[in-house]
Amino acid sequence: MRVGVLTGGGDCPGLNAVIRSVVRKGVQEYAFEFVGVRDGWLGLLQNDVRPLDVSTVRGILPRGGTILGSSRTNPFKHQDGLQRVRETLAAHEVDALVVIGGEDTLGAAVELGRQGIHIVGVPKTIDNDVSGTDYTFGFDTAVGIATEAIDRLHTTAESHMRTLVVEVMGRHSGWIALHAGIAGGANVILVPERPFDIDEVCEQVRNRFKINYAPIVVVAEGAAPKEGQLVLKDRSLDEFGHVRLSGIGEWLAREISERTGKDARTTVLGHIQRGGTPSAFDRWLATRFGLHAVDAVKDGDFGTMVALHGTEIVRLPLDEAIARNKLVDPALYDEFETFYG
Ligand code: F6P
Repeated sequence: MRVGVLTGGGDCPGLNAVIRSVVRKGVQEYAFEFVGVRDGWLGLLQNDVRPLDVSTVRGILPRGGTILGSSRTNPFKHQDGLQRVRETLAAHEVDALVVIGGEDTLGAAVELGRQGIHIVGVPKTIDNDVSGTDYTFGFDTAVGIATEAIDRLHTTAESHMRTLVVEVMGRHSGWIALHAGIAGGANVILVPERPFDIDEVCEQVRNRFKINYAPIVVVAEGAAPKEGQLVLKDRSLDEFGHVRLSGIGEWLAREISERTGKDARTTVLGHIQRGGTPSAFDRWLATRFGLHAVDAVKDGDFGTMVALHGTEIVRLPLDEAIARNKLVDPALYDEFETFYG
């Protein structure tokens, strides 16, 4: 059996741990051969495929990013995309693909699966918003980075008695904002799932100043005011139709400052949340996903995705596993009411 491995979409810590685990188990236990597809689906469109063996994956467990490269390429947005994918797979005698990606990359995988290509999916994203799995790897690392940033911002905010707004990633879901906000002791946490009232936010900020503390506001990049719109970085769309976000943090600091009459500043964490070495939990989860993905290939169980349910790794039909975004449950958000404001 010859297996191709690709990583698509935004990178995240733990991708290399999956690649290593897929290759190690596949070679050692099943005598599979592997090839690495460069830059996600782009490598299959451009016939950019390289050998991948145990020596290639040595030493990559703690390394962030992906040794295979990544891109937000949608094969169905390119002329003859399906045909070119088929040709590349045939040229390299690839029988099956392990596709490591988020909603977009795995969405294309579903369609390619329907066209007869043998695929096992592995969910990744720092946003943690793939519905079929309790957690995606990369999320824990991102939450750790954001929490450390909030810890640091507390001390400087207190020194100047000003509001510090921290903008974190999270296009559709506020998982990073909620987890890091709670772990870091933020006073206001704003998530895409719940449009916010700017008057209420300012009230919470004032309350914090009244008891002589400096407010920390954590906002997900996809959060928006009740009356208003998403703040966009620019108007360009990627091949999956997504806009580039970022700017809500700056907008909030301006509004808070004008409305409360007190200084407010913003820190945008951006790609710092995606870079660097994965946490121990993410290495553990990514390694398990890899081991189970290669088992699914061995079993010929294609059109599936590995997922974490509780402490078990399970296989789900890929189309069902990514059918919707996993959003922050309102009850979970409300659980922390005590700490807001
Ligand atoms: O898809 C994950 C994500 O981290 C989103 O939260 C964010 O909007 C996006 O990636 C930004 O990615 P890039 O700048 O690489 O396009």
